[in-house]
Amino acid sequence: MPGINRIEMARYVYMGPGLLKELPEIVLKLGYERPKLLIVTGSTKTLEITRRRVLPLSDQFSQDVEVLSIDSNMSYLKRLRELLSKIKGVKPDLLIGVGGGRVLDATKIFSGLLNLPYINIPTNASHDGTASPVISSPLKSLIEVILNTPMKILAPEAIIADIEIIASAPRRSISAGVGDMVAKFTAVKDWRLAYMIRGEEFSEYAAALSIMSARLVARRAKVIGMGGLEGTAVLVKALIGSGVAISIAGSSRPASGSEHLFSHALDYLSGRRGFRPAMHGEQCGVGAIMMAKLHGINWRRIREVLKAVGAPVNAEELGIEPRHIVDALTIAHRMKANYYTILGESGITRSAAVKLAVETGVIPSSYLNKL
Ligand SMILES: NC(=O)c1ccc[n+]([C@@H]2O[C@H](COP(=O)([O-])OP(=O)(O)OC[C@H]3O[C@@H](n4cnc5c(N)ncnc54)[C@H](OP(=O)(O)O)[C@@H]3O)[C@@H](O)[C@H]2O)c1
Ligand SMILES: [Zn+2]
Repeated sequence: MPGINRIEMARYVYMGPGLLKELPEIVLKLGYERPKLLIVTGSTKTLEITRRRVLPLSDQFSQDVEVLSIDSNMSYLKRLRELLSKIKGVKPDLLIGVGGGRVLDATKIFSGLLNLPYINIPTNASHDGTASPVISSPLKSLIEVILNTPMKILAPEAIIADIEIIASAPRRSISAGVGDMVAKFTAVKDWRLAYMIRGEEFSEYAAALSIMSARLVARRAKVIGMGGLEGTAVLVKALIGSGVAISIAGSSRPASGSEHLFSHALDYLSGRRGFRPAMHGEQCGVGAIMMAKLHGINWRRIREVLKAVGAPVNAEELGIEPRHIVDALTIAHRMKANYYTILGESGITRSAAVKLAVETGVIPSSYLNKL
């Protein structure tokens, strides 16, 4: 009903260098006394960060801390039932996610399925999932199919974005984060289109916040590309802003459009054909270049911003063969049910996909001969 708005947001967002040390205070402020903790983390670098940086702090306010390490591919999903019964056995009062987008998604999934509160401690700036109360739509559908149960994802209780830790992540994660941010230019265009053509609900405020965050990143691309504390802080602020826009809209619309469908299509094809996908944000950035051209907006400017931070702008830099790029373009519209974008209901033809990818420099022009 128009005028009714329910916004799910974190109560505390701490962002700055060295702020991880505030964890005990935040847990206390949230009202937990000696909680049973389950820390969800990755299996390499983020496990090390958990051991070296987070456990010494959590030991100050909990005598009952378990660590659950999620491996680097999606294989934890195959063990989802087993992991859920393990977590139920631990009976935690609170989850803490320490890691990149995959780990924070896993934390949201456990929280959503077991109805447990959680705190997010992002360790990189490669995605805008830190503050958002959503996971990607194909992942959500997959889990609901595996478990045959709907899942309600809640916002984190708190976010602690320690810029020192985030800035120490590989440079590639910073450029991926910029890719996930330039995606907002096309995502909001797609959303407006869905509003005009399908009468979908549209929030001017969420759209403006999303675009403002993307513009901030575009304007400060040079400093962000340097990878220091200042640039990382700008990027993290914008990524959190995007997550807040999702919270305000109550859907991923302000952050995810046809460029995200293209990235989901590459992930899907990589699973079926056995090639290695690039990072989520890198794929979305290249998708944004092409979808911007379809929307008739300045795709060259998006390309410039990506280049300024050293992000991939073509198939070769993504490490993905041109044929997968073309096929992903033709199936992208099928990646999310009832999600209207510039790709329309039947998607784009193969020849249009080749032309689009060649004209935006994403694949070599020699590919036109293969039509
Ligand atoms: N929910 C949402 O709204 C949303 C939005 C965007 C993206 N996503 C999801 O997020 C995922 C992509 O996230 P991602 O790009 O961050 O990939 P990722 O797979 O979570 O992380 C990539 C790699 O970076 C490592 N890493 C993280 N922090 C580090 C640090 N400080 N130092 C060194 N290495 C570090 C991780 O180590 P480990 O091996 O220890 O993990 C991992 O190997 C996708 O699954 C995507 O669907 C979700
Ligand atoms: Zn994204």
